[in-house]
Amino acid sequence: MIGGKPQDIIFTSGGTESNNLVIHSVVRHFQHTRSAEGDGAVPHLVTCTVEHDSIRLPLEHLANEQVAAVTFVPVSKVSGQVEVEDILAAVRPATCLVTVMLANNETGVIMPIAEISQRIKALNRKRAASGLPVILVHTDAAQALGKRRVDVEALGVDFLTIVGHKFYGPRIGALYVRGLGELTPLYPMLFGGGQERNFRPGTENTPMIAGLGKAAELVTKNWEAYEAHMRDVRDYLEERLLAEFDKQRIHLNSRFPGTERLPNTCNFSIRGPQLQGRVLLAQCRTLLASVGAACHSDQVDRPSPVLLSCGIPFDVARNALRLSVGRSTTRAEVDLVVQDLKQAVARLEGPPGARGASS
Ligand SMILES: Cc1ncc(COP(=O)(O)O)c(C=O)c1O
Repeated sequence: MIGGKPQDIIFTSGGTESNNLVIHSVVRHFQHTRSAEGDGAVPHLVTCTVEHDSIRLPLEHLANEQVAAVTFVPVSKVSGQVEVEDILAAVRPATCLVTVMLANNETGVIMPIAEISQRIKALNRKRAASGLPVILVHTDAAQALGKRRVDVEALGVDFLTIVGHKFYGPRIGALYVRGLGELTPLYPMLFGGGQERNFRPGTENTPMIAGLGKAAELVTKNWEAYEAHMRDVRDYLEERLLAEFDKQRIHLNSRFPGTERLPNTCNFSIRGPQLQGRVLLAQCRTLLASVGAACHSDQVDRPSPVLLSCGIPFDVARNALRLSVGRSTTRAEVDLVVQDLKQAVARLEGPPGARGASS
């Protein structure tokens, strides 16, 4: 599915573990190889401001503990992407990892990973001459897999995170490591029975692994058809939203001119003082959606930090809904959802006495 070699894959419990494993491993490697030089430097890692919490939080934790230094590079408010030059500018002598997601989970924006890898590789050649540590490149491909072609050779990454349930597989994950243990070191987080060549011990979860394999096989065979279908239905959804509501009222939060994005994601806001995402969803009868990352669903009325980072104004971000279409979503379902939203808006904006009367 990703163009790698079987021996470069290890199975994990999911994306959170794969992401934590990469971060843990590069820090351990730095400590192992650089501490001998006794210069007291801590490893430095570079990422961007719209990463999933399973990247952001372990990095913040390491920085708070003063085990590592971390630079969170802001994304462009024009493109929603992190700029390659900004990543390069963040590099320091002690940098050992650049980790940037392949596609954002709230906006679907595709990040320029192949360009980042190329530039870092060129930089690594110069750094080797000065005895500086190699910078490894990781991408969290959780959202991109199954929705567009993902190829580790084209991307040029050293690590890539795989999450089964995002492409209709079971809830396990995997980690791709280029030349695992030979070209790229990997330090285990767990110690135990020696499975996965000791890189991730614990009895293998055979049925889940088999399921992940089947899901990957289906993606490999059919990704173009899946992508075309999702794009058609998502574009239809955006068309219907713009047609059914006053165009000025709809803000498509995931459309950045000239920026590629995933085919399934539609993040939008309907402007209006009573139409906060959560309030609107509570009025809907058929639509099931989230207002941002599902893992933030406990953070009641704060607008998504990812949308704010991308330059979406506060009042718009507060009203955001994140809709995703899947392989079997139909245009008829989109029509139902748009009608559902229209009725929900009408109820919320109706005369005060009538508000909620029909719900
Ligand atoms: C971009 C991204 N990375 C990582 C994860 C975490 O994956 P898991 O829930 O399998 O640990 C998710 C899940 O939502 C995600 O969207």
